[in-house]
Amino acid sequence: MNLDQALRTLLGRPPATGRPDPADRHPEAELSDQERTESARLMRVNHAGEVSAQALYQGQALTARLEQVRDRMEQAALEENDHLTWCENRVKALGGHTSYLNPAWYMGSLTIGAVAGLIGDKWSLGFVAETERQVIRHLDEHLQRLSYNDSKSRAVLEQMRVDEAHHGTVAMESGGVELPGPVKGLMGLVSKVMTRAAYWI
Ligand SMILES: [Fe+2]
Ligand SMILES: [Fe+2]
Repeated sequence: MNLDQALRTLLGRPPATGRPDPADRHPEAELSDQERTESARLMRVNHAGEVSAQALYQGQALTARLEQVRDRMEQAALEENDHLTWCENRVKALGGHTSYLNPAWYMGSLTIGAVAGLIGDKWSLGFVAETERQVIRHLDEHLQRLSYNDSKSRAVLEQMRVDEAHHGTVAMESGGVELPGPVKGLMGLVSKVMTRAAYWI
């Protein structure tokens, strides 16, 4: 983790797995202005979430030992970069902009990831698993809210859903533990603030 990595997450094209963008398999749908605006906002929220996911993994990699599972966590981080790129592509195609608050999400999540890694691997892996669970709940909500016609955005979110479920499973299999209820509650609260803010700015 270094400054270069941070800047690439925020501004550029970070290293990813090279999988094709799921949106490419679908034609651009006819959307009303209202549907297009809503899609762009939801995809901005998802993009901001992926900036955070990326920062979380980078923070964790800084401090966690993760000897047995480092490769698998790095693979997950690469897949988060696919998500980051796909969401950005979609936000731009819909005529939107990514969240102006991304640097704040990035710094906050980097710190949280690093602290979780310091507390201990089983907790930081549990934290990843819980994060992914909450992300999946958001994705499901977004799949409900997106226009049925916006098959490009839907394809991106559906592939992300598959990947996030896998990341959560890997984290638990790697020794993650269930977090205490109040911690989960606090995480939910923070993510609510984030998603509300990123929806608008
Ligand atoms: Fe992701
Ligand atoms: Fe993930």
